[in-house]
Amino acid sequence: MEAVQKFIDANKQRFLDELLELLRVPSVSTDPAHKEDIRKAAEMIAKDLRSSGADEVEVCETGGHPIVYGEKIIDPKLPTVLVYGHYDVQPPDPLNLWTSPPFEPVIKETELHPQGAIFARGSSDDKGQMFMHVKAFEAMMKNNEVPCNIKFMIEGEEEVGSDHLEPFLERNKEKLAADVVLVSDTGLISNEAPSITVGLRGLSYMQVEVIGPNRDLHSGLYGGAVPNPINVLSEMIAKLRDDNKHITIDGFYDDVAEVPKEEREAMAKAPFDEEEYKKSIGLKDVEGEAGYTTMERQSIRPTLDVNGIWGGYQGEGAKTVIPSSAHAKISMRLVPNQDPKKITQLFTEYFEKLAPDSVTVIVTPHHGAVPAVTPIDSPAYQAASRAMKDTFGKEPIPDRGGGSIPIVASFEQILGLKTVLMGFGLDSDAIHSPNEHFGVFNFFKGIETIPRFYKYFAEEMAAQK
Ligand code: BES
Ligand code: MN
Ligand code: MN
Repeated sequence: MEAVQKFIDANKQRFLDELLELLRVPSVSTDPAHKEDIRKAAEMIAKDLRSSGADEVEVCETGGHPIVYGEKIIDPKLPTVLVYGHYDVQPPDPLNLWTSPPFEPVIKETELHPQGAIFARGSSDDKGQMFMHVKAFEAMMKNNEVPCNIKFMIEGEEEVGSDHLEPFLERNKEKLAADVVLVSDTGLISNEAPSITVGLRGLSYMQVEVIGPNRDLHSGLYGGAVPNPINVLSEMIAKLRDDNKHITIDGFYDDVAEVPKEEREAMAKAPFDEEEYKKSIGLKDVEGEAGYTTMERQSIRPTLDVNGIWGGYQGEGAKTVIPSSAHAKISMRLVPNQDPKKITQLFTEYFEKLAPDSVTVIVTPHHGAVPAVTPIDSPAYQAASRAMKDTFGKEPIPDRGGGSIPIVASFEQILGLKTVLMGFGLDSDAIHSPNEHFGVFNFFKGIETIPRFYKYFAEEMAAQK
């Protein structure tokens, strides 16, 4: 481990420069205009894996954006780790709110990052975190210290629902055979309170249309006598939650696994400063489901949120008009054991029922994700915990994440593999927002922790035999 650490120390600037190079490629998966940039990012990662000494490196074609594969089989008797990450990123807009251009990475100091943070779209989610694995691999390879077999699978469609990854898993079950999946695409509670994510929420994402008159109408001539689709949609949305911020959809909570009291008590011990939380996002107060704390509301409880809403006149000045239609995108974050397909169905039935007879409602589901929980009594969790204890000087706290990584449930269903979510980002990294950034401290912490994970995982697995 000493040689590996020395190598990392000696190559820090180069590792950082290489990450900046990758961040310059605008690999926005949802935008067809960036198709070639996506491919370019995939090729860069493949090239890096190859030069680090990975075998069978391939940019695998799918029906969508390619998946980068590479492996190093040291000895079939050793345990095998499948590393998953994504090189695609969210769109950068609104562009005018960035203090520096999203694909021209720069390092700036912040209050939380006295050693500097890399500002660029994808720096934390997930190019920066994925790249820690590529560099840790290089450091281990160059020093002949690779304690496990390693397989890399880096995809380009995570931010759009991983549609082509499931069939890829189905087609390549044997090639992807492993003992565990290792992912760095989540966060720490803070750099002083390291944590390992042990649960992710699921997702149902819907689009709704409310259609009224067959054309936009003069709001004076017709107003008061006809349904206004925006008024109707607003009223319908308002009915989706009651005064306690409880979701009113029939059957919505039927399958929700209540978290045991002991686990909630343990959660409450994790450091969390609500005043600091409010300040960090410029809020006067928080709100959410009655009977739960802020931390619980954003991790162990399901939610319903409008992500976008439009219709009618939005240009300069005023136009007196009753629009003919109104639209919204609505997401529901799910918890174990809710099933996104069932929730999608329940939402559709309920939303259609809410509509007055005067309008037509169309509900269209977008992507979904099954919630996931990861065990803490596994060799892989123990290895991650020991590795982080080494590098942070503190045992990490198990912590439930509020976001979703759709493919994690499929690793279990299709490959029969559990996942360890050893992420190094922070909630304050502004992922999906303007000014996304990733601490330089966090980037190197990740690179230093990963080789230790492999070392301890090999040990833990050998001890189990
Ligand atoms: N890396 C995030 C998910 C995440 C971030 C989980 C921080 C826990 C902590 C991932 O890239 C993401 O944004 N997922 C989407 C999934 C969706 C596009 C299907 C999400 O959660 O909205
Ligand atoms: Mn991600
Ligand atoms: Mn993301």
